[in-house]
Amino acid sequence: MEIKRVGVIGAGTMGSGIAQVFAQSGFDVMMVDVKQELVDSGFEKIKRSLDKFVSKKMVSASDAEAVLARIKRSIDIKEVSSCEIVVEAVFEEIKVKSEIFQKLSQICSSDSILTSNTSSISITKIAANVRSPERVVGMHFMNPVPLMKLVEVVKGLRTSAEALNTVVELTKKLGKEPVVVNDSPGFVSNRVLLPMINEAIFALYEGVATAEAIDTVMKLGMNHPMGPLALADLIGLDVCLNILEVLHRELGDPKYRPCPLLKKMVDAGLLGRKTGRGFYNY
Ligand code: CAA
Repeated sequence: MEIKRVGVIGAGTMGSGIAQVFAQSGFDVMMVDVKQELVDSGFEKIKRSLDKFVSKKMVSASDAEAVLARIKRSIDIKEVSSCEIVVEAVFEEIKVKSEIFQKLSQICSSDSILTSNTSSISITKIAANVRSPERVVGMHFMNPVPLMKLVEVVKGLRTSAEALNTVVELTKKLGKEPVVVNDSPGFVSNRVLLPMINEAIFALYEGVATAEAIDTVMKLGMNHPMGPLALADLIGLDVCLNILEVLHRELGDPKYRPCPLLKKMVDAGLLGRKTGRGFYNY
């Protein structure tokens, strides 16, 4: 199947980044969210990201204009009905995602591919009430989407080899590297990353070192581009907590227990960069 039109549901940090990379690779994109201000703010994020690429001469000004022109916006999910593939990137709530997928399976053609950018929810579960669940695939992008090479391609229990292969090939067209993994809580990325971040938070909580010291150890000692606490602020502390809770609940192992400090910070509304304060001030 030739893919030309891509629907993106959700215009937040991940959704707008996903819309951007598809448009930068020549696809026509329909970006949808529930409110006009959310769609507009997603579009502004894309503009800012492209401006950075233009100022670094990585993208020409006319190409950036063309990218923006390829991104249409709507608050009506029905606008994605003619897309050959849809990427859902709304917040991590199984009920909301299931409702969106049920709607998509009604409005999109039965040979379209339906993907989710979920960071930890089961693709098998998301596909459960979808007409033709074999076309549901996980397409897990990394933040910041325009810069990160990886897409974790997740095979649900009923995902067909054909749908999986289409997503793998599509990922390559975006200039990204697909890695296929089976459906399991947190997949590979977050199963490995989140326990490390959680341990860094425990080290801070127990007074082993300051946030700066913990991050410097990981940056200079292990060559990580940013320390785990700064990375938690980038991902969002609410998102980190949510993923750890999924790992803890679904795998049933106490090693995934979220650090009480993480819970407290989320309760206090200190969610990282997006609220101006997390382990650091922004
Ligand atoms: N678009 C365009 N440019 C961007 C950008 C975006 N969306 N985001 C950042 N940049 C720019 C920065 O503005 C900066 O430009 P300037 O130098 O002009 O300021 C440039 O990229 C490089 O950034 P920095 O110099 O600040 O820092 P850096 O060299 O360390 O690169 C980084 C930034 C790519 C984010 C790097 O720190 C990094 O790779 N960090 C780790 C990110 C990571 O692990 N992501 C995965 C998170 S886990 C996840 O996403 C999965 C999940 O489900 C939770």
